[in-house]
Amino acid sequence: LMVDKGNYRHFMAKEIYEQPETISHTLSHYVDMGAEKVAIREVLPFDFADLSRLTISACGTAYLAGAVAKYWFERYARLPVDIDVASEFRYREPPLEKGGLSLFISQSGETADTLAALRYCASQGQHVACLVNTLESTIARESAVVFPILCGPEIGVASTKALTAQLTALASLAVAAGRARGVLSAEQETELVRALVSLPTAVAEALGTEGQIMDIAKRLSKAKDVLYLGRGPMFPIAMEGALKLKEISYIHAEGYAAGELKHGPIALVDEDMPVIVVAPSDELVDKTLSNMQEVAARGGKIILITDAEGAATAGHGVSDIILIPHVSSFVAPILATIPVQLLAYHTAVFMGTDVDQPRNLAKSVTVE
Ligand code: G6P
Repeated sequence: LMVDKGNYRHFMAKEIYEQPETISHTLSHYVDMGAEKVAIREVLPFDFADLSRLTISACGTAYLAGAVAKYWFERYARLPVDIDVASEFRYREPPLEKGGLSLFISQSGETADTLAALRYCASQGQHVACLVNTLESTIARESAVVFPILCGPEIGVASTKALTAQLTALASLAVAAGRARGVLSAEQETELVRALVSLPTAVAEALGTEGQIMDIAKRLSKAKDVLYLGRGPMFPIAMEGALKLKEISYIHAEGYAAGELKHGPIALVDEDMPVIVVAPSDELVDKTLSNMQEVAARGGKIILITDAEGAATAGHGVSDIILIPHVSSFVAPILATIPVQLLAYHTAVFMGTDVDQPRNLAKSVTVE
C-alpha cells in the first residue's frame, strides 16, 4: 500500500487534517446534494419502516460511532437501538427477533470479535449489514448489505478520519430511517441534510484551534489522569477523547456521562486533575455546564469544548475554552470529535510517544 505522510510528521496528523475532504467524500455517497435529500444507493433487503429494533455491535472507536448513532436512530427515526461491544455481544448471545436488522461497524472489516458477532446474528435470521472502510474484507463479504465509509486508507493505529466518516454515514442512515418510518417530514429531512452538508467547512474551521490546543496539550502532558465529560451524544465523544488520549499518550483517562459525575468520579477531582468538558450548545448544555461548575467548585482545571453560545453561559472557573463553530445539534458530535483528536495527538507529540504505532496496540485485531 503506497500512502505517504506528505508534509505531516505523522499519519495521524495527516488523517486528522484530511477530514474536511473525507467527510465530503462520504457525504457525496449518502446525500443527493442537488435535491438536499439522503440517497441510499445500496439495495436493502429490509424496510426501515418494518423494523422494531436495530442491533449494533463493534469494537473500539467504531463502537463509539455506534454509541452516537443510537441517539440519532432513536431521536430522528424512533427506532430502538441495542448496542454492545462485540466481545461482550458475541458471548451474551442476546435473543434477536427474526427479520431484525443487525449492523456491524468496522474500519478494517477484519476485527475478530465483530466478525463473530456478525456470524451469530446471521445464524439468528437477522438481516446483516456492515459499515466498513475496506470493501474487500471478511465482514463485508459476509454481510448482505455493505455501507462504505469511503475515507481512504487509515494508517495511524488510533482511528480518526474513519470515525468521522462512520458518523457521517450513520447520521445519513438515521435520516433515511426517519423518513421511511414517517418520523421526519420532507422539510425536516432537508434541514438535517443541510446540517450534514455544512460539516466540511465547520470541520476545517475547527482544525484552526490547533495552535491553542498545542498550548493546552503541553499542560495536559503533565497530568496523571484526565476526566472527559459529556451528555447525550457528547457522552460517546467524551469516551472517544479519553480513548484517544490513553491509546497514544498513555495518560490514564476516563470518559463519563456528565450526570454520573456525582456518583463517583467527582471524588477524584482536585487541582491536579484536568477535566475536559465536551458541551457545544444544545438542549442539554445547561445541565452539562452545571456539572462542570461542580468540578470548578472543587478546584478542578476545566477545559471546555463548546461554541460561542455555550461559552457565553459557561460562567467562572473555566481554565480554557476551545471554541468550535456553532452547528446544528444533529451534527455537533461529529464536529466535537476534531478538538478531542487534536488534544490527544499534541499531548502524545509532547510526550514523544510513537504516535502512529502506540505500544501494545494493533491497527486491526484479528485474534480474540
Ligand atoms: C483496534 C484499533 C482501533 C479500532 C478498533 C476496531 O483496537 O486500534 O483504532 O477502533 O481496533 O477496529 P475496526 O477495524 O473493527 O474498526
